[in-house]
Amino acid sequence: MTAARDSSERYSPERQSSERYSRVAIWLHWTIALLVILNLAVGLLHDSVPALRAWMGAHKALGMTVLVLSVARLAWRLANRPPPLPALMPAWEKGLAHAAHAVLYVMMIGMPLTGWLMVSGSAKRGPFNWFGLFDIPYLPVSTATGHFGHEAHEILGWMMLALVVAHSAAALRHHLLLRDEILARMAPAFARKKNAL
Ligand code: HEM
Ligand code: HEM
Repeated sequence: MTAARDSSERYSPERQSSERYSRVAIWLHWTIALLVILNLAVGLLHDSVPALRAWMGAHKALGMTVLVLSVARLAWRLANRPPPLPALMPAWEKGLAHAAHAVLYVMMIGMPLTGWLMVSGSAKRGPFNWFGLFDIPYLPVSTATGHFGHEAHEILGWMMLALVVAHSAAALRHHLLLRDEILARMAPAFARKKNAL
């Protein structure tokens, strides 16, 4: 049937309720999201809020955790394709979502890597361990590379903040304005009842 469909039919719950990310992908998404948001807050505020400076050891340890979880997540993603976006979603919107997700993956790996470069190339290296449980090795890099890591970490940090805000706003737009099942694909608790309109 080729008749025009209105937006409620396009995104109807019946068409999508079973199309969710896997449990592993959902667990990794929300764990990484929480750690990234914490790290963005501590990183951006530690200069102006002195109490947060004591958190920088945790910032580094959580950041390295994000690196490991993000590599695991990418591997899982390559082995388990996520459910396709709704067939009738406009092509531009699908393209934008895929591009935003790809850049988020680059940042989830790029932020920890540039932080690692920064502390490895620093003239005065501080302690670098995972919550006091074991030491994390420094990378064998020059101070110039450390300086590059520092600059990149700061620029990428602001870009990541902007993209996370846009990504979250897009998810909320789908849930609250378009009233479709996109958020529920990643947060099943928000699934709408089958017959609710
Ligand atoms: C630092 C925070 C976050 C990061 C790094 C992040 C990253 C990502 C990435 C990389 C994907 C693509 C998954 C894939 O297809 O492999 C994704 C999907 C998704 N995210 Fe996030 N996310 C974050 C926060 C949030 C928040 C706060 C929300 C909700 C308000 C949200 C809602 C979603 C939804 C609904 C999807 C699935 C979209 C779809 O069905 O294609 N995310 N996220
Ligand atoms: C998800 C991972 C991470 C995120 C989102 C993140 C975010 C940020 C942000 C936004 C800043 C403030 C940048 C500035 O204004 O100068 C910052 C600072 C910093 N980050 Fe990270 N970071 C992460 C991982 C790491 C890792 C793995 C390390 C080290 C191994 C690290 C070490 C640092 C240090 C030392 C600073 C302070 C730089 C300064 O005072 O100039 N970060 N981080």
